[in-house]
Amino acid sequence: MSIFARQPLAGRLLAPAPGWTTSADVVIVGSGIAGLSLALQARRSDLKVLVVTKTVLDAGATRWAQGGIAAAVGPGDTPEQHESDTLIAGVDLCDVQAVHALVTEGPTALENLIALGADFDRDASGDIALTREGGHHRDRIAHAGGDATGAEVSRALISAVQADVGIEVIEHALALDLLFDDRRAVAGITLHVIGEGTRDGVGAVHARAVVLATGGLGQTFAQTTNPEVSTGDGVAIALRGGATVADMEFVQFHPTVLWLGPGSRGQQPLVSEAVRGEGAFLVDDAGRRFMHGIHEMADLAPRDVVAKAIMQQMIETGAPHVWLDGRELGQEVWENRFPTILESCRLHGVDPVTELIPVAPAAHYASGGILTDLSGRTNVEGLYACGECACTGVHGANRLASNSLLEGLVFASRIAQHLATDLASPGEPKPDERVPALLTPEVREHVASTMTDGAGVLRSRRSLGRTLSRLLELRSWQSQQPCVEAWEATNVHSVATFIAAAAREREETRGSHWREDFPEPDDLHWRARINSQLVEGTVHTTVRPIS
Ligand code: SIN
Repeated sequence: MSIFARQPLAGRLLAPAPGWTTSADVVIVGSGIAGLSLALQARRSDLKVLVVTKTVLDAGATRWAQGGIAAAVGPGDTPEQHESDTLIAGVDLCDVQAVHALVTEGPTALENLIALGADFDRDASGDIALTREGGHHRDRIAHAGGDATGAEVSRALISAVQADVGIEVIEHALALDLLFDDRRAVAGITLHVIGEGTRDGVGAVHARAVVLATGGLGQTFAQTTNPEVSTGDGVAIALRGGATVADMEFVQFHPTVLWLGPGSRGQQPLVSEAVRGEGAFLVDDAGRRFMHGIHEMADLAPRDVVAKAIMQQMIETGAPHVWLDGRELGQEVWENRFPTILESCRLHGVDPVTELIPVAPAAHYASGGILTDLSGRTNVEGLYACGECACTGVHGANRLASNSLLEGLVFASRIAQHLATDLASPGEPKPDERVPALLTPEVREHVASTMTDGAGVLRSRRSLGRTLSRLLELRSWQSQQPCVEAWEATNVHSVATFIAAAAREREETRGSHWREDFPEPDDLHWRARINSQLVEGTVHTTVRPIS
């Protein structure tokens, strides 16, 4: 084990003494596809389930998903082919067993979601309509409302959860820190609720298991497809609780995000890969199709390949974006198949029916996160993780398009099965009186620009060293107020430090991790995963070769 980043992180952060208490068998933190489908399935074992969510039920990333859900359900397709595409996209770093579980259990997971009421698009013969995205050798992506898959999935899950009286939901509840019993098993979690009545302010949920399903961390960067709430809270909570995280350096940058100008910050509109799946293609300023000759799948190459090719164009020409040409799709396809994207482009003054769309990469998805086994268990007893905040190993160095919603479904179901038979019985949570050390809310914006500048699509030892130094400076911006914004800023800062530290450690280029100073993959030294932990305020990493 090496300690290579000695900057103190936020230390052991804890909430002020809870002003109210409640209890559940299982508390699920997060209300995207992973959290809600787990809640519904855990109820089948009659468990008392509490879902807590930072703002409202549909505010997370699931609602924004455009492309769809990948599953081998089309004619001629098989889980083996899906497995092969997933492993290739993950550039030899995937956990093969996890991928096998994903692709073999995927079709049933999709069926169950449809049975729950999610309405997927159908073709003329009534079969599920399937499209293609980068890295897939088959039409394999089920979609809903054209390009509004996430919105439909979210709608169906929320309505099922609301119809189940056994699932309690607390909205406007930021999860703060884990509670432990005397044996250091998880015994609940503290929350900061902005509510009314008895559950207002800091409170505690006593529970037999805590499942973190908090989604992504895109807000760690200046431009992202992720919504405002994606501040890496689950990863930060897990780190403070002693959990191991893995593959943090593999942040995926989506190649085609609508370019809104140099000063644009925060969530940016996504232009789904499915637009290229239906025939659109990338061109440079001179109208040249630059993906030909770069990869045999051209515009439908895996996402990391396309993002890198776009960045290369931008670096070579000095242009702040490239162009996506979707004019050949025609008005009818744009209106019926991509109504959401059409609307958001038009809202920003671009008509994709007649004009080229300016696009550039932006932070999109964390392929790494809280390390789990195939039942969602972490190394901390009683703590589970599911969905984007988890690292099951299915994505390796680069997630295959539309495997994320699928991962949420498949692993939620695995966790539910595990909880049905193996729920722990922790003792009473122990009070812990150490004082919170939070950062000021202003830190968040500085972290985001620092990360985009030095730990974005293109990285080097120098840029990452600069990034880590700046993050260290920002550590002194301590907050006097333990408000929600201060917790979020602290979480973003911690997660950023772990991303930058792992990115500095990995001296090669692989998947979505692109090192200017080590431009090739190095299988001899780096067919390995980087696990990290927070130990006494420092990042400890372990390099774990893949056998
Ligand atoms: C997209 O629609 O391009 C995004 C889908 C995904 O991230 O898997």
